[in-house]
Amino acid sequence: MKFLPPPPLRLPLLILLLTAAASAVDIPLGSTLYASDSNSRWPSPNNTFTLAFIPEPNSAAGTLIAALTYNNIPIWTAGPSTTSSAVLRLLTSGDLALLPSPTSTTPLWSSSTANIGVSAASLDDYGNFVLKNSSDAVLWSTFDHPTDTIVPTQNLNVNRTLSSGLYSFKIHQTGNLTLRWNNSIVYYNSGLNSTANSTVRNPILDIQAVGILRLSDPSFSSPLDLAYSSDYAEEGNILRFLKLDSDGNLRIYSSTLGSSGVQNIRWAAVTDQCQVYGYCGNMGICSYNDSYPVCSCPSENFELVDPRDSRRGCRRRVELQDCPGREAMLQLEHSRFLTYSPELSSQVFFMGTQPCRLNCLSGPCIASTSLSDGSGLCYLKSGNFVSGYHSPAIPSTSFVKVCAPAMPNRAVSSVNNGITSRWRLTAWLVVVVVAVTLLGLIIVEGGLWWWCFRNSPKFGALSSQYALLEYASGAPVQFSYKELHKATKGFKEKLGAGGFGAVYKGVLANRTVAAVKQLEGIEQGEKQFRMEVATISSTHHLNLVRLIGFCSEGKHRLLVYEFMKNSSLDNFLFSSEEQSGKHLNWEYRYNIALTTARGITYLHEECRDCIVHCDIKPENILLDENYNAKVSDFGLAKLVNPKDHRYRTLTSVRGTRGYLAPEWIANLPITSKSDVYSYGMVLLEIVSGRRNFEVSEKTNHKKFSLWAYEEFEKGNFEGIVDRRLIGNEMNMEQVIRAIKVSFWCIQEQPSQRPMMGKVVQMLEGVMVIDRPPAPKAVTEGSICGTSITGSSISALSTFATSMAVPSSSSASGKHVDRASSSLLHEET
Ligand SMILES: *[C@@H]1O[C@H](CO)[C@@H](O)[C@H](O)[C@H]1NC(C)=O
Ligand SMILES: *[C@@H]1O[C@H](CO)[C@@H](O)[C@H](O)[C@H]1NC(C)=O
Ligand SMILES: *[C@@H]1O[C@H](CO)[C@@H](O)[C@H](O)[C@H]1NC(C)=O
Ligand SMILES: *[C@@H]1O[C@H](CO)[C@@H](O)[C@H](O)[C@H]1NC(C)=O
Ligand SMILES: *[C@@H]1O[C@H](CO)[C@@H](O)[C@H](O)[C@H]1NC(C)=O
Ligand SMILES: *[C@@H]1O[C@H](CO)[C@@H](O)[C@H](O)[C@H]1NC(C)=O
Ligand SMILES: *[C@@H]1O[C@H](CO)[C@@H](O)[C@H](O)[C@H]1NC(C)=O
Ligand SMILES: *[C@@H]1O[C@H](CO)[C@@H](O)[C@H](O)[C@H]1NC(C)=O
Repeated sequence: MKFLPPPPLRLPLLILLLTAAASAVDIPLGSTLYASDSNSRWPSPNNTFTLAFIPEPNSAAGTLIAALTYNNIPIWTAGPSTTSSAVLRLLTSGDLALLPSPTSTTPLWSSSTANIGVSAASLDDYGNFVLKNSSDAVLWSTFDHPTDTIVPTQNLNVNRTLSSGLYSFKIHQTGNLTLRWNNSIVYYNSGLNSTANSTVRNPILDIQAVGILRLSDPSFSSPLDLAYSSDYAEEGNILRFLKLDSDGNLRIYSSTLGSSGVQNIRWAAVTDQCQVYGYCGNMGICSYNDSYPVCSCPSENFELVDPRDSRRGCRRRVELQDCPGREAMLQLEHSRFLTYSPELSSQVFFMGTQPCRLNCLSGPCIASTSLSDGSGLCYLKSGNFVSGYHSPAIPSTSFVKVCAPAMPNRAVSSVNNGITSRWRLTAWLVVVVVAVTLLGLIIVEGGLWWWCFRNSPKFGALSSQYALLEYASGAPVQFSYKELHKATKGFKEKLGAGGFGAVYKGVLANRTVAAVKQLEGIEQGEKQFRMEVATISSTHHLNLVRLIGFCSEGKHRLLVYEFMKNSSLDNFLFSSEEQSGKHLNWEYRYNIALTTARGITYLHEECRDCIVHCDIKPENILLDENYNAKVSDFGLAKLVNPKDHRYRTLTSVRGTRGYLAPEWIANLPITSKSDVYSYGMVLLEIVSGRRNFEVSEKTNHKKFSLWAYEEFEKGNFEGIVDRRLIGNEMNMEQVIRAIKVSFWCIQEQPSQRPMMGKVVQMLEGVMVIDRPPAPKAVTEGSICGTSITGSSISALSTFATSMAVPSSSSASGKHVDRASSSLLHEET
């Protein structure tokens, strides 16, 4: 034994020799461990470690596991849990197999080492159980196939994973240590500091016998100490080990030899257990009683999946698919739903608390969290698994979609424990008596009141004021014509006149300022009108104007919207230059472009019924006090079934010239792509501050959008941009992006135009934008291309003529207006 091998081989061989020296007893092929016999065991030479069947910790009586133990604490486990009939056998083929019974031939688990030359097994005093060949070479070992624990002298490299239930722990090539749930959600990701990071080649993690979690790599001059056990370097025969627990936390434990089964937590990777994803199962809410995390359900709408084990999560008493259209959002204060990567990127949005609630209610989402920490973030959870956390210290508010009614938990349940049942009975009696008395009084008084006032006109007004309370809950309120007449002081203050009727400012009974739209020429019946109101009011998005209520009385059809302080976009884009106060810098314009696109995307792609707006123009883009865009008038041009455009022949063309896609005039199907066209024109106007159909000397007597494309081709971006922006801080890269996007949107062929969702991505800069081809209509010098049919032609030629007339910019306005009226006249 006293030869010295050449230097590179010295260390591994030394370990091999030491191991061999310690493991005096070989376990021959054919040996068997019996679950039924507690004396059936394979110990290490000095008895520190043992391989045997033991009762599975924290489980029902009768379940056993074949485990390698220290102090009766399992540090490695062979296969799943079994019963007392099972055996662990080192088969003559060299395979180590867990069999359900001594005579069985189909293993529950095996080491997959059959016929590779295994001649014996052995267990050393470091806790490594090995299968080796006749020249003592290790062919398989428990150190190389860890389950949930590593012990000193064992290590983890990038190819080894600790796992426990749905949780797993891994070291990555970058040296990052991660904890994952179900191989996807990363709820712990700890990296090296940047100096070490880039050079890592083959990181290896191990736990030193003294209690240090250590990372080594060929590129490090010395190993990095990542964590210290709190009993670090204390004397005694102590085993310290790193274990991924079934609760998803990674911990260092220590256990003194001989103190049967006692183990103490000395370090934990996740300090706040409630932040472990899925700790309380699906829909479970984690919180702390005194110092322990406890699991409960969000509300009485839920029940525990397993009443004996609250960690198994909660299930709904009524499934969402069993109550379509009757969903409600249950509000949970001081709670959040955990959101980690990779969910993080797709589930995080910027919006306030109410939009966070409403967007979840109307979408495919099942729960949402509004972080009230000043970040303005909202998580919309759309997966089928959510993990909650409740603590008085959490500033977030969360919402869970449930079948109405939402039934919050009674807060008392856990506090009551100490109170004697007799006292409780008395308390209940008092409560019941008081409640019955109160109820009786209310009924009597309510009856009297109704009797006195039932014929009074005031009654109606009062009832709708009560209905106003509902307005906060998102349902549309029905107003009487009289109320709205009063609220608008007899339709006095006109805010504007849209395509569907005039809009007036009003103050509702609860002092909310609102915009009241008096619809004109609506020939629909009451029922259909109500159905459309219901659709509009169920369409909630941060970038859509919210419908508060409606009025349908006789011939009167009115809609009540939230009031937007900064009126509509056209006031800012096309205001004359003297009104310098009404000027928007680039940052605001870009935000408006993006938020408008988001609102339209929601209409097209994200809400339950696809809505084509049909009249997108600056006049219909309203601005709130922070200059966020909110699209208005959606849903008024009727709900469009993408496959069915018959409605257009039923009602007149409502859209506005300049923003109408060519297919309107060509009598082709109207789809969401028609809105994309209109949006493209608006986007161009946001950049340029000029109407897309403006014709002037400066635009070479061409339509502005046409001229702009020519300038774009020449690379003259500055010529397109609003002169008021030049000289101010302007992100030229964003400007060019916006210009390119606008030309993509106004392509003549609907199929060439991007979907609205893609427009958002292009504006956000997450997508590369190809150079847009010439919008066909532009090259031909008419507002639409070749596919014009019959009756439209005369209108178009009128328009084309008016464009050909050289005129100053103010005069051209008139020409265009005349042209437009004739165009619409011909169409309708
Ligand atoms: C068993 O052997 C290991 C390794 O040699 C040693 O660290 C440990 O102290 C020994 N235990 C006893 C009780 O001798
Ligand atoms: C044992 O395995 C080692 C490594 O795989 C191999 O080099 C050696 O030849 C094997 N010995 C026998 C007797 O098969
Ligand atoms: C991990 O596995 C890959 C592929 O099996 C192998 O190329 C690599 O050498 C392994 N790394 C370590 C540290 O064992
Ligand atoms: C875990 O992931 C798998 C596949 O990704 C999925 O089928 C399964 O439902 C997930 N488990 C839970 C509890 O969500
Ligand atoms: C590694 O961890 C750090 C945090 O410690 C994190 O910022 C980084 O993104 C992680 N890297 C990877 C590849 O996950
Ligand atoms: C580690 O390096 C990678 C690429 O080399 C880098 O992306 C990452 O941000 C770095 N991580 C840290 C924590 O510096
Ligand atoms: C980063 O790691 C190096 C060792 O690789 C260490 O010397 C240095 O102090 C660490 N820096 C910080 C900020 O932790
Ligand atoms: C807190 O919960 C733990 C675990 O469920 C329990 O053992 C403990 O008694 C509870 N403490 C209190 C004060 O309720």
